[in-house]
Amino acid sequence: MNQDLEVIILAAGLGTRMKSSTIKILHRAAGRSIVDYVLDLAVDLSPNPPVMVIGYQREAVQKAVGTRARFAVQEQQLGTGHAVLQAGSIVEPAAGKRVLILSGDVPLTRVETLRLLLDEHQRSGNALTLLTMRPTDPGMYGRIVRDASGAVSHIVEAKDASAEEKRIGEVNAGIYVFDGDRLFDNLRGLKPENAQKEYYLTDLLATLRDQGHRVGAVEATDPVEALGVNSRSELAQVEIEIQRRVVERLMREGVTFRNPSTVVIDSTVSIGADTVIYPFVTLEGTTRIGEGCVVEPGVHLSNVSIGNDVHIKTGTVAEDAIIEDEASVGPYAHLRPGTKLGRHVKIGNFVETKKATFADGAKASHLSYIGDAEIGENVNIGAGTITCNYDGVRKQQTIIEAGAFIGSDSQLVAPVRIGRGAYVGAGSTITKDVPADSLAISRTPQKIVEGWAKRRKKE
Ligand code: UD1
Ligand code: MG
Repeated sequence: MNQDLEVIILAAGLGTRMKSSTIKILHRAAGRSIVDYVLDLAVDLSPNPPVMVIGYQREAVQKAVGTRARFAVQEQQLGTGHAVLQAGSIVEPAAGKRVLILSGDVPLTRVETLRLLLDEHQRSGNALTLLTMRPTDPGMYGRIVRDASGAVSHIVEAKDASAEEKRIGEVNAGIYVFDGDRLFDNLRGLKPENAQKEYYLTDLLATLRDQGHRVGAVEATDPVEALGVNSRSELAQVEIEIQRRVVERLMREGVTFRNPSTVVIDSTVSIGADTVIYPFVTLEGTTRIGEGCVVEPGVHLSNVSIGNDVHIKTGTVAEDAIIEDEASVGPYAHLRPGTKLGRHVKIGNFVETKKATFADGAKASHLSYIGDAEIGENVNIGAGTITCNYDGVRKQQTIIEAGAFIGSDSQLVAPVRIGRGAYVGAGSTITKDVPADSLAISRTPQKIVEGWAKRRKKE
């Protein structure tokens, strides 16, 4: 943490190559906006809230970022140098302050790498230290031109580069540390004399050298750290990398993955030690899984909170639900918002729940719909039971008290209450409350016609 460090995040550009109505930094990867990852870096490095330079869709960006940054507006996108200058009214720093410049669309930089860059800046007495890299394809990045002694001389943008300069493998990652008092004055002197007619921040390299200041570079060992999100393809690459890091972290924390490359896990998800995640599992949002759980293939969980030693079987889908210790769910169960399962609850195959609370030890093992319901301890719900919760106008409650037994293929027409320990006979349609410890049965009495089948065959 460094009091004397200001962080500027450049985020005024739209990102036309995304072909999107949403600005590129608000696109999501692994459950968060691209810019959230950049804000994390700023927060880790300086106690001063970063200054974001915004332009396109500034209201949406301000709303998404909230109080995590201060904002400077760049009305027209006249180039990266012009963008940084707009932050000057907020951060124009006194001597001794340093300014770290990040791009809002470059989310994979590691904080350790930025610390190396800041340390090198301090150690070397540079006026500017920038991050460089050697990607397999230097593409449209600015090329780092070094002089005969190997010192960084200047940057030439790909669009302005000669064929020979284009062959340079070392490129500008777009991340810089400046001595504060060398930055803004020089930005005011920039001229848009280049192919794009823009004010290039990168021109300051040559300016500072001409003024007799030292400039230097630190090479990022892993070029993925400078990968920017300019297209859907890069967005996908960034998301894959974030997920790879999430899974690596979870494995370090004691989680087993049967095939880590097949799972999709948001960076906001937590999982406890000794939990086993099978292939093709998707975990999203605020999902939290405890210790010693098993999550089988094809499970999709969104904002689900799970205790310890829970078994989620193949094909289960759950959203905004709570599942307590030692419960078992699925295969092919559907827990909709407002579901809460207590300890040892069992929800079996093809059971759908919604706004339903199951107290400890309750079971619905097969083929049921339980909605707007309160299920007591150790209740047993037979196969094919349906809570008829909707009368066409309103949703109504079903209450099943502790220890009750609901026979298979029953319909419970809400509002209705099944008393403690009561029995509902199989195939019943229950429209009135059932008192505790009683039996309710509503099916038509069975009739036997002797010899009927034999006679029919003869005809
Ligand atoms: C820039 C660098 C290039 C480097 C590359 C790394 C310059 C002139 N070139 O090129 O050397 O290799 O980044 O990714 O700096 N922005 C604004 N306002 C503007 C222009 C840009 O806020 O007027 C923001 C963009 O939203 C983006 C960042 O600055 O977040 C970088 O701009 P971009 O247009 O992507 O620059 P590059 O052409 O990629
Ligand atoms: Mg770019």
